[in-house]
Amino acid sequence: MVALARPKMKWGIAIETVDVAILGAGAAGLMAAIHTGRRGRRTLVLDHAERAGKKILISGGGRSNFTNVHATPLNFLSQNPHFAKSALARFTPADMVALVERHKIPYHEKTLGQLFCDRSAHDLLNLLLKECAEAQVAIQTGTSMQSITHDGAHFHLATSGGAIRAKSLIVATGGLSIPKMGATPLGYQIAEQFGHRIVQTRPGLVPLTFLPKDLADWSDLSGLSTEVVAHTRPAKKQRVPNPVFREKMLITHRGLSGPAVLQISSYWMPGEPLAFDLAPGRSVVTELARRDQGALLQAVRGVLPGRLAERWVALNTPDSWTNASLTALEAQFHAWTVTPSGTEGYAKAEVTVGGVDTAQLDSTTMQSKLVAGLYFVGEVVDVTGWLGGYNFQWAWASGVSAGESA
Ligand code: FDA
Repeated sequence: MVALARPKMKWGIAIETVDVAILGAGAAGLMAAIHTGRRGRRTLVLDHAERAGKKILISGGGRSNFTNVHATPLNFLSQNPHFAKSALARFTPADMVALVERHKIPYHEKTLGQLFCDRSAHDLLNLLLKECAEAQVAIQTGTSMQSITHDGAHFHLATSGGAIRAKSLIVATGGLSIPKMGATPLGYQIAEQFGHRIVQTRPGLVPLTFLPKDLADWSDLSGLSTEVVAHTRPAKKQRVPNPVFREKMLITHRGLSGPAVLQISSYWMPGEPLAFDLAPGRSVVTELARRDQGALLQAVRGVLPGRLAERWVALNTPDSWTNASLTALEAQFHAWTVTPSGTEGYAKAEVTVGGVDTAQLDSTTMQSKLVAGLYFVGEVVDVTGWLGGYNFQWAWASGVSAGESA
């Protein structure tokens, strides 16, 4: 940790004075700090966890999927789909790759443009901490926040580690997922305290749970997976349809998971059905050799794993083998409809959908339109990425935007 200047005294109380205080030593907060520090702004990062970047260390199964080379604004959910454009253009996946290469961190592309560290996510965290040290950034962990006020010129932070006065405050406290790793609603509370609206939050990139009937029909097949195309039902008045995801779906003992389901979960609204094409781009039952259950099973086994094929046929064999019923069966196969009972919640969610309303933030700097000097970056903002390195790319990009302004 870099030492700060000797604290000033006010009424016998030591007050640390900095240019920029950053709440949250995660991906977005550390990236913002690197950029404020490089600009010569005295920067202090505060975190209640005992160490910085805990979520980075568990990300990507311990190897951190640190960006996605195909990231565009279309890969993000927000009430304002245009908001992320400026930040994502300012700091691109190529910029992140250049940083990783400058630190000689070995990495590889796994699939669909997803870049992972070869060795461990520790490499990525060490990169951020080294850059912070070079930029003279002070990081104070194990520090909880007691109150924050603003006097028109400065923010005053009362913390468990003492009083802090800062010209700018960057809130980078992340979302609500994985509370046992230290996620808290502090960022949303600060936003509301200063008059900001919050777009309702919900778990995203999260496994979904079955209603009792589906649980009885499918949950004993837990562990089986198959490639599907996952769809939501378009909401009324929705101008741009939600994306569809062609990836693996996994049956769990409580419901559905796997990349296709995690992706679609971020778009799913409680009570709504989801539809899964179980044989993308293939015709299954229209080309049957014979019109009987044996031939149907043989055809379905051509596209689904054995036990899943048997169950699907057992549950869907038609009463008659007319052209109309076969056409209906084919359609059913391409739109297996499941209405989830819910999600596995923040305990299992990779991200939080919703957050600080972007309408009250400047998209080029992440600065509040209501309070000068107040910034929100990373997951606390109502910008949520798809699975596959997009959420870190948003954390880096929004962190850089704020870091170049605060
Ligand atoms: P982040 O959560 O990283 O940091 C917030 C910081 O604020 C934390 O250090 C926390 O301790 C601190 N904080 C919170 N409340 C506080 C309080 N009250 N007082 C003080 N400090 C407080 N994304 C991706 O792109 N690729 C991947 O491989 C993965 N993998 C992955 C795995 C798992 C298991 C999860 C849960 C998530 C991912 N993600 C991911 C998502 C990604 O980790 C996430 O979007 C970013 O870490 C968000 O960065 P932030 O800096 O906004 O929040």
